[in-house]
Amino acid sequence: MNNSENSKKTLPEHYSKTTPCKVTLQEKRLLSHSLSTKKTYHIALDIRNTNLQFEPGDSIGVLPQNDPLLVQNFFSLLSDTPDALVIDPRSQEEMTCEHYLSHKVNLSRVNTSLLRHLLQENANPSTKELLTHIVDPLNKAELATFLTGKDLLDIIKLFQKKPSPLQDLAPHFTPILPRFYSISSSLKKYPHEVHLLVALLSYPHQNEIRYGVASHFLCHLAKEKETTVPIYVQPAAHFKLPENLSANLIMIGPGTGVAPYRAFLQERLCQKATGKHWLFFGERSSEHDFLYKDYWHELIEQGQLKLEVAFSRDQAEKIYVQHKLLENAEMIWEWLSKGSYLYVCGDASRMAKDVDATLLHIAEKHGNLSEEEARAFMKNIRHTRQYMTDVY
Ligand SMILES: Cc1cc2nc3c(=O)[nH]c(=O)nc-3n(C[C@H](O)[C@H](O)[C@H](O)COP(=O)(O)OP(=O)(O)OC[C@H]3O[C@@H](n4cnc5c(N)ncnc54)[C@H](O)[C@@H]3O)c2cc1C
Ligand SMILES: NC(=O)c1ccc[n+]([C@@H]2O[C@H](COP(=O)([O-])OP(=O)(O)OC[C@H]3O[C@@H](n4cnc5c(N)ncnc54)[C@H](OP(=O)(O)O)[C@@H]3O)[C@@H](O)[C@H]2O)c1
Repeated sequence: MNNSENSKKTLPEHYSKTTPCKVTLQEKRLLSHSLSTKKTYHIALDIRNTNLQFEPGDSIGVLPQNDPLLVQNFFSLLSDTPDALVIDPRSQEEMTCEHYLSHKVNLSRVNTSLLRHLLQENANPSTKELLTHIVDPLNKAELATFLTGKDLLDIIKLFQKKPSPLQDLAPHFTPILPRFYSISSSLKKYPHEVHLLVALLSYPHQNEIRYGVASHFLCHLAKEKETTVPIYVQPAAHFKLPENLSANLIMIGPGTGVAPYRAFLQERLCQKATGKHWLFFGERSSEHDFLYKDYWHELIEQGQLKLEVAFSRDQAEKIYVQHKLLENAEMIWEWLSKGSYLYVCGDASRMAKDVDATLLHIAEKHGNLSEEEARAFMKNIRHTRQYMTDVY
């Protein structure tokens, strides 16, 4: 056995939340225009020397790290120094306070256990009345309103009388959880990389801009060729390419929902699939947010892709992907009734429901079905996995 075979053998077969694969950020590129109202980044991670295996449709779980500035600010509320030791109450592992706050705690989430702890142990007299009021289970709605936009630092600063040892507060913190990102590349095309499409989550709070933990970590904090990103694969048995290479695909993915289709198309081209591909993409502005535009156009030129776009903010009235489905309703029905695979990825709260309602309408109108028959048709194509969704 040579050295490389030997080192491969010793790598874990399955990476997980508790045993992640540590990879390096290879590339971070703003895909949206610098003037866009929304920032979406292409992220490439270097997976050489790992056993990471995935298929188009799978997602990557990222274990993010908190912003060092936020962690540093936290020490003004503690009686500990950054290199003092603390025991993580969940794992019972000992580590420095800095490591614990950087990697283990969700610094933006406050739970009532912390509020109750402060009330019992270390409440500031000037805010005790407010604290007593909001922890009362009868005032749940007021508590939710009060906590909106406030992070751990805001709350401890407001209610704590004097600096605390981190060990006393730790049992009342919520853990930092992995965030998932659809894989936007195929191992067949990029055997040493995994690509992600990440929308930066940001919102104003008083006089500052606050960011989502993982998107800020990947899009801002992580440095190319330097930062280690702990990841693992979250397989998606419910969102897979068909084995049949002559099957046609209809892919609906506004915003970051388009990510898995780049992986699908790279894979299908490497497989020399003969089926047709039809993509419905939507974003805010054609000039600023046409994500992966060059790739789609390259595929169109090669005769491999049919593309419909819905830019919602290019005109006064909203145009969404479902409007493009309606414009092409007859052909959508023809493709669907002949067994084309249908995929929907992206926003679960509104988009996926609206698209589903539009497809039901198309089945009724163009399939000459009653509402009940159209519902049965939709239920059946979901059941047989002709219609697959990955929504969040
Ligand atoms: C299967 C799956 C696939 C996914 N794929 C992708 C993908 O390909 N690309 C992608 O970008 N995302 C994807 N997501 C979403 C992604 O996992 C994260 O949820 C997203 O990046 C936000 O994480 P974050 O850590 O940046 O934000 P968090 O730190 O989790 O921040 C979110 C929190 O911010 C707070 N917040 C947000 N807006 C406001 C506001 N206006 N006012 C006050 N508070 C606010 C809320 O408390 C909210 O819960 C996917 C999710 C799943 C489940
Ligand atoms: N759980 C989380 O913490 C988290 C974090 C990030 C994103 N998300 C969710 O993930 C989803 C994807 O986000 P994204 O930033 O990639 O894009 P997005 O917010 O889904 O926006 C993409 C496009 O979809 C349009 N759109 C809005 N409502 C729609 C509807 N009902 N039907 C069809 N299209 C609609 C948007 O238009 P307009 O904006 O002009 O209306 C925009 O043009 C979002 O729903 C977001 O809420 C969740």
